[in-house]
Amino acid sequence: MPEKILVTAALPYANGPLHLGHLAGAYMPADVYVRYQRLKKSDVVFICGSDEHGVPITIRADRERISPQQVVDRFHTMMKESFSRLGIRFDNYSRTSLPLHHKISQDIFLKLYESGYIKEQDVRQYYCVSCRRFLPDRYIEGECPHCHHGGARGDQCEACGRWLEPEQLVSPRCKVCGSAPEVRGTKHWYFALSRFQPDLERWQESKAHWKSNVREFCSGWFGEGLTDRPITRDIDWGIPVPLQGAEGKVLYVWFDAPIGYISSTVEWARNRGEPERWRDYWCNQDTRLIHFIGKDNIVFHAIVWPAVLMAHGGFVLPDNIPANEFLNIEGEKLSTSRNWAVWVDDYLEVFPPDPLRYYLAANAPESKDSDFSWKDFQVRNNSELADILGNLVNRSLSFVEKHFGARIPAAEMLSESDREVLAAIGRTAATIGSLLEDFQVRRAVSELMNLARIGNRYFNDSAPWSALKQDPARCAATLNTTVQLQLALAVMMDPFMPFSAEKLWKMLQAPGSHRDVRWQDLEGLRLPAGHPLGAREILFRKIEDEVIEAQVARLHGSKPA
Ligand code: MF3
Ligand code: ZN
Repeated sequence: MPEKILVTAALPYANGPLHLGHLAGAYMPADVYVRYQRLKKSDVVFICGSDEHGVPITIRADRERISPQQVVDRFHTMMKESFSRLGIRFDNYSRTSLPLHHKISQDIFLKLYESGYIKEQDVRQYYCVSCRRFLPDRYIEGECPHCHHGGARGDQCEACGRWLEPEQLVSPRCKVCGSAPEVRGTKHWYFALSRFQPDLERWQESKAHWKSNVREFCSGWFGEGLTDRPITRDIDWGIPVPLQGAEGKVLYVWFDAPIGYISSTVEWARNRGEPERWRDYWCNQDTRLIHFIGKDNIVFHAIVWPAVLMAHGGFVLPDNIPANEFLNIEGEKLSTSRNWAVWVDDYLEVFPPDPLRYYLAANAPESKDSDFSWKDFQVRNNSELADILGNLVNRSLSFVEKHFGARIPAAEMLSESDREVLAAIGRTAATIGSLLEDFQVRRAVSELMNLARIGNRYFNDSAPWSALKQDPARCAATLNTTVQLQLALAVMMDPFMPFSAEKLWKMLQAPGSHRDVRWQDLEGLRLPAGHPLGAREILFRKIEDEVIEAQVARLHGSKPA
């Protein structure tokens, strides 16, 4: 059986619209990777969905005085739409409020419970008397005991980044009403994470190929020693804990959310009319399970979730967890509460998707945080997409139109430099392939642009406009070679800029879809001499200063969402 690849991208909370930070961290690199695997004709499935439980949802609902269901309905639809407009093409985009997901999560909980990995414990927890409810982590705010930042949350201080327990906060208050909570007794169910430490450590020893940020993060956790973790909460939004005596309790969102990867795959299989097909991926030790995430999700994906999978048994463990760092905006930390963010839908009102995809790929926060700046975006669009890639296409295709009746001229004799350009295609395809296998999107996209650069240099050096009169056969060979290069570029662009890839393929009037080409066959891909070209269009438009200035002003002037 050919190897199977199951790719997931972190399920985004359905509590707000999509912004560039989401894209850069998980969805763009995942989509690039998957599009490459599809071109390679790998057996790959790309899974995602909305994360619709947990305190991030109920806090938004409280603030807007609407129900959590209304919150998730609104943002699930919105995010799904934004992903599709950006060309982020999941095989399935599900949502965790579906009955199917509730059932699967409860079944997994019960299996762990019956195997003795989940135990009840009496605990003392903050309770807000005026709101009449227990306050889970993010419902409490107070002063951080480490850095003394005033607005630390019950689970983490955003200022210093440290993880917290609610009782560590100095002068805690209820996030909703601001009053000081009291401590009351309640009970929760704990997952025996500590018992999995030896197995997890042994498993990760075989993961020397993981990114160093993920490995270092995990060894920090192992060094401190894993502790058992409560996986239930006292809120009324979520998946009911399927036990007697657990009325009013729900599963902790971080317990059910990763299970969403499984339930979304089950939904995918059912929609295809092959309801058992999900097992070919999840219950198959040869599947490569790859979780694309942002760095704030590392502990859940690299430690807690694999332990849950081990406790359950029968499922494949993650093969890799390419976690990205963060994307800053104009040199400052992205913050949705301060509305210091660039929202995908706002972007799409003004610009096409591909320049953003290109920019985020070229500037991916792979090994350290990177920065989105509008000016830099403009520069990359104008001087790379328009001046290099777009220019190569435009000048050569208009030349073919004008001097060869819009038909690909023959290449009767290839010169040394023609051959070199054609050889660069295969070489670049192989390089991009191995970089993407290693999740290095940044370097991969720069190889792509380099190939267009090589094409431009070759076109200049060959000076077909002078050869036209003196050596028409030479001129024809140059144009033929340049068109063949673009044919390969159209395919190679797909992972990064799928809309422009399609446009270029159409301009060349190449047969079928560029997605039918196998990546492995790029080297020998040719259109025959005499082949008629289609209508020429501008591939990438330059962006004017005023347009960029308006975006910068919008960012600075924008009020909280
Ligand atoms: N909703 C979480 C976040 O946005 C990510 C959940 S990933 C999954 O940070 F594993 F739970 F699915
Ligand atoms: Zn309160």
